[in-house]
Formats: sequence, structure tokens, C-alpha cells
Amino acid sequence: MSAAPIGVFDSGVGGLSILQAIRAALPHENLCYVADSGHVPYGTKTPEYLQQRAIALTQFLLTQEAKAIVVACNTATVAAVRHLRTTVPIPIIAVEPAVKPAVAVTKTGVVGVIATATTLTSKQFLSLLEQFGAGVTILTQACPHLVHQVEAGDLGSSMTRALIHQYTSPILAAGADTLVLGCTHYPFLRPLIHEVVGPEVMVIDTGAAVTRQVFNVLKAKHLLNHNQQPGQEHFWTSGEAKSAQTLFSTLWGQPVQVQALPSGFA
Ligand code: DGL
Repeated sequence: MSAAPIGVFDSGVGGLSILQAIRAALPHENLCYVADSGHVPYGTKTPEYLQQRAIALTQFLLTQEAKAIVVACNTATVAAVRHLRTTVPIPIIAVEPAVKPAVAVTKTGVVGVIATATTLTSKQFLSLLEQFGAGVTILTQACPHLVHQVEAGDLGSSMTRALIHQYTSPILAAGADTLVLGCTHYPFLRPLIHEVVGPEVMVIDTGAAVTRQVFNVLKAKHLLNHNQQPGQEHFWTSGEAKSAQTLFSTLWGQPVQVQALPSGFA
């Protein structure tokens, strides 16, 4: 079982930012990644729709003998993780905006969180604010167009820069010195985000925290892969596989093959 893969999915390519963190920390683990790009963006879909998609992708990853599943999507997490954890027989690890670490590091006491509207208006996010937001000002901003920019591979254009400027200006104007990337797509925009917000602002994402959680869960369940060979990665998309190949290879940093998700799950 320990040589079985870790399954990871997101609404699109955003979860590759989490996959990169897992690969860097756990080089011997086999990984299976599904981009639900045929249904992206999730941020505008109903919770019921997102739950159905999470179930389909989880079922597919179970056909790949996944030993654990990472919901590498803040939006899918708030909509579906509770259901998955009560119905799926393997560990489910999920993501949430890094509010707690941001509150710990802010000096001005003003923290910005950018994410999808679904994430920011969810009960889970409001509960994070209640748990960790005491004594600080947390400003939120939904960014409805940033996922599309990343899915289009547009990581550096003036249009993308203008959107980042539009979304972060009010937060910076209010004195934020810390910015939480509450969507797994946004780490791919880090270079541009740093340019726009400047070197004084700390930018925090969830890759390292999720990877620690994956390690801890696999260790506790004696599921870590102790083989010493480099782990393999397999990629699927519910979108158009040919064009996905170019974008996946760019984001992953080396050429990869992307398979079309079997129709029964797409
Ligand atoms: N990567 C997803 C997240 O972390 C983006 C959701 C979407 O497709 O709108 O929320």
C-alpha cells in the first residue's frame, strides 16, 4: 500500500502548486494529479455541483489505487471535504487559506486574504477568522478573474498585472503587510504579485503547510513510501488534454504527458 500513489485534484492547474510542494518534500512518493479544467472555475459553481465533481474525481483516483487524497482546492474543500471524509475509506487532506500563519507574522496587524468568493463567504473561512483573527484586521478580496488567467497560462501580461493591482490596492491602502494567497492557482502568479505589492509585503501560501499535513497523516497511518526510487507523477485533465500538456509542462517546469480523464469521470 505504501507504494500506492497520493491522489491530488483541483478545479484546474492550480493544485500543481501543491503538487510541487509535495514532490519537493516527499521525492519518493508516487503522485496522481487531476485537473478538473473541463469544469473550471469552481468559484462560480454551486456547492452541490462542486460536491458531485469532488466525488467523481475521488472515485477516479480510487481506481488509481490512491492511498490518500489531497483536495488541492480551497473552493472544493469548503464545498465537499466534509462529505468526502464521511464517505471515502482513505485519508482526505484538504487546504484552507493560511490565516493563522499570517496573523502570527503581521507587524501592522492588517492582513489581506485573496481567494474565490465561495471560499471567502464559506462557514469554514468565517470560522477561521473567529479562531485566529482576534486583535488583527483581516481584509478579504474575491478575485473572480485570476483563475482564468492562470488556466490560460497568462502569468505575466499587463492584463494579469492590472487585475492583481485592482484586487490588492484596497488591501495595501488599508495598511496590510501580509497577503494570504487563498487559492491554489495564485502561487503561479507570485512573481507578478510581489512586483505589484512590493518587497515590504509578506506573501503566504499553503503549499508547505499542506505538505506537512500529508507527511504527518501518511506517517501516522504507516503509509509513507520507503522505496528509494524517485516517485512517478501521472497527470489527467477533464479538459482538452493536448493543450493541457503545454500548460502543465510550463507550470511543472519540465515536459509531462497529460491524459484525458476517462469519460465516466469527466
Ligand atoms: N484552485 C481553486 C481554489 O484554491 C480555484 C477555484 C476555482 O476554480 O475557482 O479555490
